[in-house]
Amino acid sequence: MVKALFPGSFDPITFGHLDLIRRVRPLFDALVLGVGINPSKRSLFSTEERLHCLREVVERAGLDVELMAFEGLLVSVARQVGARVVVRGIRNASDFDYESSMALTNRTQLPDLETAFFVPSPQWTFLSSRFVREIAAGGGDLKDLVPEPAASLYLRKLRRAEIP
Ligand code: PNS
Repeated sequence: MVKALFPGSFDPITFGHLDLIRRVRPLFDALVLGVGINPSKRSLFSTEERLHCLREVVERAGLDVELMAFEGLLVSVARQVGARVVVRGIRNASDFDYESSMALTNRTQLPDLETAFFVPSPQWTFLSSRFVREIAAGGGDLKDLVPEPAASLYLRKLRRAEIP
C-alpha cells in the first residue's frame, strides 16, 4: 500500500491544484492533502476555510482523498500519516530549483521519503495562489482561477468582510 502526501498552503486551492490532485490520485493507494499552517506567513484564508474549500472541491469532483492540517515539519507529518511519497507540482524551472532543494533538505531528515514532481496541464502553468490572493483581496473575479464552490465561497467571505 503506497500512500502519498500532497502538502501545500492551498491559500486558496486553484484549478492547478485540482488538476494535480486528479492526475495523482489514481497512482497511489491513498492520497492525503495536507494544509500547511505557517503562523509566520500571512494568509488570506484561515486554515478552516482552506480545509472547507478543499473538502467541497474534492467531494464535488468525486475524489477519494484524506484531508488534514499540519503545523511543523513536513517530514514529521509524512511519518505520522505513513506516507512514502510527497507530491509536489512543478510549473517551470524556478519551481524546480525551489522544489528540488526542498526535497533534498527533507531527505536529510527522512531518507526513505521520496518526493515526486508532477506537471499540471499547460493551461494552469501560469496560475499561482499568490496571484489569486491578490485578485481576491482586490475584489476581482476568481471564476477562471479557482474551482467552484471555492470561488463563490471566497467571494462571499470577502464581501461580508467589506460590510462595516
Ligand atoms: O503551497 P506551498 O506554499 O508551496 O506549500 C509549502 C509547504 C506547506 C509544502 C512548505 O511550506 C512546508 O513543507 N512546510 C512545512 C515546514 C517544513 O517542513 N519545512 C522544511 C522544508 S525543507
